[in-house]
Amino acid sequence: MALTLAPLASPTAAQDLSVGRSLATRWCMACHVVEPEQTMATDNAPSFRAIASRPGTTPETLDRYLSRSHTLMPDFMLSLQERNALVAYILSLR
Ligand code: HEC
Repeated sequence: MALTLAPLASPTAAQDLSVGRSLATRWCMACHVVEPEQTMATDNAPSFRAIASRPGTTPETLDRYLSRSHTLMPDFMLSLQERNALVAYILSLR
């Protein structure tokens, strides 16, 4: 599968992004548009790119959101590593 990503700062960041991407396609894709090529999702969940592009979105706001269970979102019980990977992936879509 071809995957084009911006040049990465460190191997850790590269690993986070690919982990984050596979977590997103496994768990988040049913509701969110998680990658640019994706065409199907629910219409009430914002796309990851739209979330990433909001001026108020920072790693901290995303991490806080993913750390608590949300009424509309299933409780994922994400580990710290999984949250970090998802945050890195979402912000890479900016
Ligand atoms: C069952 C559907 C569903 C799934 C699965 C889901 N989401 Fe969501 N998500 C939503 C909806 C609907 C919203 C918007 C309404 C809200 O804020 O509750 C949302 C909002 C969000 C937001 C906040 C956007 C904002 O307004 O700031 C983030 C971040 C997010 N989701 C991340 C994720 C991640 C990461 C996953 C996968 C681990 C995921 N979601 C899986 C339905 C879902």
